This record gives sequence, structure tokens and C-alpha cells, in this order.
Amino acid sequence: MSKAQGPARFIVFEGGEGAGKSTQVQRLADALRARGQDVVTTREPGGSPGAEAIRSLLVSGDTARWSPETEALLINAARADHLDRTIRPALAKGQWVICDRFADSTMAYQGYGMGLERAWLEELRKRVVGDTEPGLTLVFDLPVDVGLGRAVASQRYEKMGRAFHETLRAAFQEIAKSADGRKRAVIDAGKSVDEVARRVLHAVTSAYGLKA
Ligand SMILES: Nc1ncnc2c1ncn2[C@@H]1O[C@H](COP(=O)(O)OP(=O)(O)O)[C@@H](O)[C@H]1O
Ligand SMILES: [Mg+2]
Repeated sequence: MSKAQGPARFIVFEGGEGAGKSTQVQRLADALRARGQDVVTTREPGGSPGAEAIRSLLVSGDTARWSPETEALLINAARADHLDRTIRPALAKGQWVICDRFADSTMAYQGYGMGLERAWLEELRKRVVGDTEPGLTLVFDLPVDVGLGRAVASQRYEKMGRAFHETLRAAFQEIAKSADGRKRAVIDAGKSVDEVARRVLHAVTSAYGLKA
């Protein structure tokens, strides 16, 4: 159990392909390290050896390789290992954890995108995540064409078509507004890399009471 007061030092970046999440995970980690903070960056699916092995099953192959239900279970299995082996140990040591995608992506992709029952996904989330919920989730919002134009369209999720990605964008917008007690901020990901980094840092310093 963390003895720290206030929100967990567990920050998640969410949003569609090409929104700039991976770029900004590194920018935020650099900014926090420059303030003397100890930071671990990680990603989902993946982030631990076992979870990375599961990731390789998820991101390669045909779009129809897995049923949505199987996929959701694989993702949650990966998440359980990631939490046990990487996230919880880091938080227990007082480190910041910055994660590229987490459980909101599962709700967006497998729930809103692929039509799995959302209540079941929420139940799985609660079972797997327990009390290790992120202290802040930054939801990157960007027009689909801009994101797909930026992304390298080679991996399995990126092959899923424009309508799917429009559904995802709307899903993340809805999730960002949901009154589930999880703190989220929407970031306009259409700005320059420097401007997005500035807005991300502002959201983080505000949420954690750090000096701006
Ligand atoms: N704000 C931005 N404006 C323009 N290009 C960007 C911006 N942020 C990231 N990129 C570029 O877009 C591509 C996708 O960025 P990335 O961070 O990998 O997105 P994500 O992880 O959300 O898929 C990369 O080539 C990156 O350099
Ligand atoms: Mg990325």
C-alpha cells in the first residue's frame, strides 16, 4: 500500500492511433525527471516480460485472429501480469508510473469498438486492476484522418478501417466524460508536440499539486 497522500502517481495516456501518446509519454517522463522525480515508463498491452509475450499475440496477424471476447481476456491477462510485476512494485517504491494505454483502451476498443458487453468489461477491469487505478488519465483527442496520417499503418489495430477509428474517437470522448470517479483530462492532440507537452505538464502539475 502506498503511504503517499493524494492521487496515485500512476498516469495513463489514452486515445487513438497516431495521437502522439508515445511521444508525450517520453516528454512527460523527461519533464518529471528534470524535476528530480523517479519515473518508470511502460505500455499496454505489455510492460512486463509475460505481458509483452501476450502483446505479440495481439498485435500481429489477421484482424480476425481473435474473437473480441478472447482478445479482451488476453488483454486482461497481460494487464494482471503488468500490474503485478511492473506497476505495483514501482508505485510501492515511490516511483511515478507513466503508462501508454491502459484499461480505458480496452473499454474503447473491445467495448465500444467491437461491441462486447461493457458491464462485463468493467467487471473484469475492477477484478484485475483492484485499487491500482490511475491517479490521472490524459485522453488525447484528434480527428481520425490526422491520427491515421501520422501513424504507421502496419499493425493489426491500424488496419481496422476509418469507421472503426471514428467509433473509437467518440468512445474516448464519452469515457473522458464518464462520472466513474476516475480522474481524466482531455488533451487537444492536434497542437504541436511542444504545445501538447506544455498542456500535459499543466494537467499533471495541477492534479498533483506540483510547482508549475
Ligand atoms: N503533436 C504532433 N504533431 C505532429 N506530429 C506528431 C505529434 N505528436 C506525434 N507526432 C508524430 O506522429 C507519429 C505518431 O506519434 P506517436 O507518439 O507514435 O502516437 P501514438 O503513440 O499515439 O500512436 C510519430 O511519427 C510522431 O513523431
Ligand atoms: Mg504509440
